[in-house]
Formats: sequence, structure tokens, C-alpha cells
Amino acid sequence: MRFLISLSFALILCVAAPLLVGAVPAARVDKHAFGKTADGLSVDAYTLTNKNGARVKIITYGARVVSIEVADRGGKLGDVALGYDDLPAYEKDPSYLGPIVGRYGNRIAKGRFTLDGQTYTLAQNNNGNHLHGGLRGFDKVVWTGKGSVIGGAARLKLTYLSKDREEGYPGNLSVTVIYTWTNRDELKIEYSAQTDKPTVLNLTNHAYFNLAGAGVGDILKHEMRINALRFTPTNETSIPTGELRSVKGTPLDFTSATPIGSRIEAKYEQLISGSGYDHNFVLNKPLGELGLAAEVYESTSGRVLRVYTTEPGVQFYSGNFLSGAIGKQGLAYPRRSGFCLETQHFPDSPNKPEFPTTVLRSGGRYTQTTIYQFSVRRGQYRER
Ligand code: GLA
Repeated sequence: MRFLISLSFALILCVAAPLLVGAVPAARVDKHAFGKTADGLSVDAYTLTNKNGARVKIITYGARVVSIEVADRGGKLGDVALGYDDLPAYEKDPSYLGPIVGRYGNRIAKGRFTLDGQTYTLAQNNNGNHLHGGLRGFDKVVWTGKGSVIGGAARLKLTYLSKDREEGYPGNLSVTVIYTWTNRDELKIEYSAQTDKPTVLNLTNHAYFNLAGAGVGDILKHEMRINALRFTPTNETSIPTGELRSVKGTPLDFTSATPIGSRIEAKYEQLISGSGYDHNFVLNKPLGELGLAAEVYESTSGRVLRVYTTEPGVQFYSGNFLSGAIGKQGLAYPRRSGFCLETQHFPDSPNKPEFPTTVLRSGGRYTQTTIYQFSVRRGQYRER
């Protein structure tokens, strides 16, 4: 009898084991049509799923991150990136929800710069300055996508060729962005670019996060830490003055974790002119090395976001100009319902020779790596 029981147990194991092995989730990439632009171009969506079942969705229009679904401290998935449900909403988007921004993230004063003795004129699309690449920046073009699973991780390679004089910039610029969604819930973004004429370049990603969930209230209680001792103060049109100012004694001191909202209304001239936080922080790490830029914690969900980058700066923008547009699932995104951590070179570097250079020459190669790493904190302990 005992023999029979053991035998049937062994049989059950033989049948069930392969099923169990087969059930181990593997990373994967799924592609589907997202729609057609007003110009009739087809846009695809790629969903990158990792072993944990966490998901990131990216569309080829603007290389935009549409959603990031990660677990809270109870293991429940929630979407922490602001976005829209359909393409027409993205085509109208005034807030840059989720895209790759280029050719120049943030502002160039008066839309003008001189390189090798030649002056170039760009669109003045923001109070007389050039912002985020102009009227039709990289956020508004259709990229070519290719999904794959490499080394067990889901990834999406996106390419775009920006023609000589596009939006006024010199050089044919070929750009590659690789999004990898790792099995450690990290969204790794690797940028590279080459040009056939000297030009300037400053790429970034403009995802808005709300770690409690997109469309679930404001971000004012999120605790922010930024690895920066200095920032670049700006004039009344948000152009850096050239000063690198110490954060000490100012409401821009995030050297230890501080709720975003605790000083946002302080009568500090930089916060008044920026309508809140909209500043470039000078990262306290060697230029070009991958290092910590910021860490954000949201206590109700337990979610933590850490940002690592090779860039010298990060623009911390507290969503001051979000104005209640309707996003995914009919949820509204009012003022300060999302924040951005845009890793970058400093704004207006083409006109500030004292800032780290943004010049790219032919034969040279632009590279940048940024990682948005998600985890949860349980009580005193941190996951991972
Ligand atoms: C950046 C700018 C802001 C604003 C947002 C998008 O963060 O610095 O001033 O333009 O992008 O609305």
C-alpha cells in the first residue's frame, strides 16, 4: 500500500514538474498597434513584462513611456507613470508626458547659439526661449521600434534619424534609445547618437511619476532626496544665470529626504519664479560616471524610486504646469500630481562655456545611461 502511494506520488511529480517549470514566468515583449497619427503614420505600442509580472508600456510616437506598473509593499501592481489612453491625446499633449526629449532637453536662451563661429537660430517656443527641442521635437516624431528579450530581460530599441537643420539644428543626427526593463524592476535607458556635422545635443526622458498611482492625488507628500549640493539658479524666463549656488539654507536643499510639499510655497525668489520646483541640480558625482541622482519614497504605497545617471545634472520639476488634463482611465492630472526627474546636461549649456559641454562632433559619439529603479520599503527595512 505504502509502495502504491509512493508510486502515485512519483507519477504526479513527473507530470506536474514540467508544468511547474513551464509556469515560471519569463520576461517578454508584446507588440500591438496603438493608432495612426493625424499625418497617417502607424504607431506601435510595446509592452515589456519582466519575471515579476511588472510591466512597462512604450509607444513609438515620441518614444514615450505610457505606463509603468510596479508592485506596492503589499505586492499589488499599480501604474506610477502619467499618460494618456490614446494617440490623439498624445498628439495634443502640452506637458511632455513620458517622451524622449530632444534635440535639447530644457531651454536654450532666445533660441540661439554659436558653434565654430556660426550662429544657429531655433524656434522660440517658450517665453522667447527654445524649450525641449522646439515645435516638433523628438517627443512628436514616430520612432522605429524593435522589441527583443536579451539576457533574460525585455527590451525595446528605438531609432530616429533627425535631418540636418531639423528644428534649426545642424547635422544629420542618428539617435538610438534602448529601454531595458530588467528583472529587478529597473527601467534602464541607454542613449547614443552620431552626427555628420558639429551640433549640440542634450537628450532626456520626461516621464512624470506619482508613486501612489497616476491620477491618485498630488505628489507633495513624496519624500525626495537629491544627490546635489548645488543648483543652477535661473532668471525670470528660467534660463540659468551661470551661477552654481549652494542648496544650503535654501528650500532646494534635498540632501536629506524631505517631503516635496514642505517648502514648495516658501517665499524664495527661485520658487516664486519657477512656480515651484523646476530647477537643474548639479549632481555630486564624477562627470560621466553612473551614480545616484535622486531617491523618492511614498509612504502609503511603500514604493521607492531611485534614479541613477551618467549625466551631470537632473531637472527636478514638480508638475507646476499640469492643469487637470484627463489622462488614462479618465483620471485627471491636476497641478503637482506628478513629478519629473529629467537627467541631463545643464540648461542653456550651448551659451554657457563654463558648463559641461553639450557639443557633439562628427566622428564622436554621444552616450548617456539613466536607470529608474523601483522597489518597496517595508517599515525600517528596504527591499532588495
Ligand atoms: C520642463 C521645464 C518646465 C516645463 C516642463 C513641461 O521640466 O523646465 O518648465 O516646460 O518641462 O511642462
